[in-house]
Amino acid sequence: MEKLAIDGGAPVRGGNPIVETDVFEQEEFDALMEVAKSKKLRRAEATLEYEQTIAEWFGVKHAIAVSNGTTALHIALAAFGIGPGDEVIVPPYTFVATDTAVLEQNAIPIFADIDPVHLTLDPEDVARRITPRTKAIIPVTISGTPVDMDPLMDLCKKHNLWMLEDACQSIGARYKGQMVGTIGDVGVFSTVTGKITNTGEGGFVITNNSDLFEKMWGYMDFARRRSLGPASKYHFDLPCTNYRITNMQSAIGTQQMKRAWDMIHKRTENAHYLSEKLAGVPGIVLPAEPEYGERVYFYYLIRLLPEVLGTDMLNFAVALAAEGVYNIKYLSTTRWMIPQHLEPLFVNKAGYGGTKCPFECPWYDGHVEYYKGLCPVAEKACEEVFWLASVHPLLKKQDLDDVAAAVTKVANAFVEKTAKGIPINYATDEHRALL
Ligand SMILES: Cc1ncc(COP(=O)(O)O)c(C=O)c1O
Repeated sequence: MEKLAIDGGAPVRGGNPIVETDVFEQEEFDALMEVAKSKKLRRAEATLEYEQTIAEWFGVKHAIAVSNGTTALHIALAAFGIGPGDEVIVPPYTFVATDTAVLEQNAIPIFADIDPVHLTLDPEDVARRITPRTKAIIPVTISGTPVDMDPLMDLCKKHNLWMLEDACQSIGARYKGQMVGTIGDVGVFSTVTGKITNTGEGGFVITNNSDLFEKMWGYMDFARRRSLGPASKYHFDLPCTNYRITNMQSAIGTQQMKRAWDMIHKRTENAHYLSEKLAGVPGIVLPAEPEYGERVYFYYLIRLLPEVLGTDMLNFAVALAAEGVYNIKYLSTTRWMIPQHLEPLFVNKAGYGGTKCPFECPWYDGHVEYYKGLCPVAEKACEEVFWLASVHPLLKKQDLDDVAAAVTKVANAFVEKTAKGIPINYATDEHRALL
């Protein structure tokens, strides 16, 4: 057995752990400089050009660029007219923003479980959670995996629900040939650093519905009416806030959209390379390619099989970090996920101002509790699915080789230790405190 670094052996990667940087080439730099020279830094022409580029890229009528993916989700829910007393069905296997956007409208997130292979909303469980109060469904294309949309769209038609696709991690994924984000009423994307296209911070919505477009445009900018132009500047007849993006981010975004396919293909190539290298390693399940579409790769996720490895994900993560491929201090931020319904925010029904609003708001005539066992498939996924590595386009072959070598080494060692009855117990309280 090769001695693990955590047992005092030589690490796979002796130098620095892999760090992700933004793709920012001469074109982005030039575009940013042009905005600077124009001295128009806030939302203006460069943003209009960015929005047009996005709309053309997706083949949709409208795009609106906003300050981030979370605010993109929010303007869509606001445009749908979601409000107090309403329920919105969301997955628990997502980033918290999917669910907090619902709270921003004083509505109630209702969690439905996911399917164990693709980790996306399970339409049968969604159907079980629909009530007369349900107004929308938000499926999440987690880590680039398209959601099985047909059954969900059928539910929307049957129950007259809005469909909001949270495709924040999935620019370029397709479902049955159709671009993810163009199937429901609105598609939402994030362009925060690390995402498939990147503007530092940023997000956008796309839609073919012109009425929703006008409403979302308003909610992006203090509920002003786009159609009235400058005349609408100081009339505020709806609750509103400011979610504008800047011209600087937009200028970068336009260049990112132009290179989006290259970056997407490079990510896929990296992921497939990892899959080749990791094929046959015991105790891990490699990412699935859905039969109903083409995925893209945000992160490369593997499922760890505790019954084969003889231990839980935390011990695996700690041993892997010791091999030098990533920094243990990022254990929580990029490698760990807990099901959203078990986040203290939901379990404690924490509202602003110390209240339990909207969870126990007088407008809400349902009753909601968030507890362990609510979504067992997602809970198990959170215990077993490891966000191994971003496969961002600037990764070098050596980085991928190191990741694959480290996973192979740790998995083999764990299997062997388990066969010999050697206990695996690396995780300390210090590690648990990082989660
Ligand atoms: C699935 C999902 N939804 C929403 C968001 C929120 O996007 P942002 O961080 O740009 O607000 C993110 C990413 O961060 C995400 O991954």
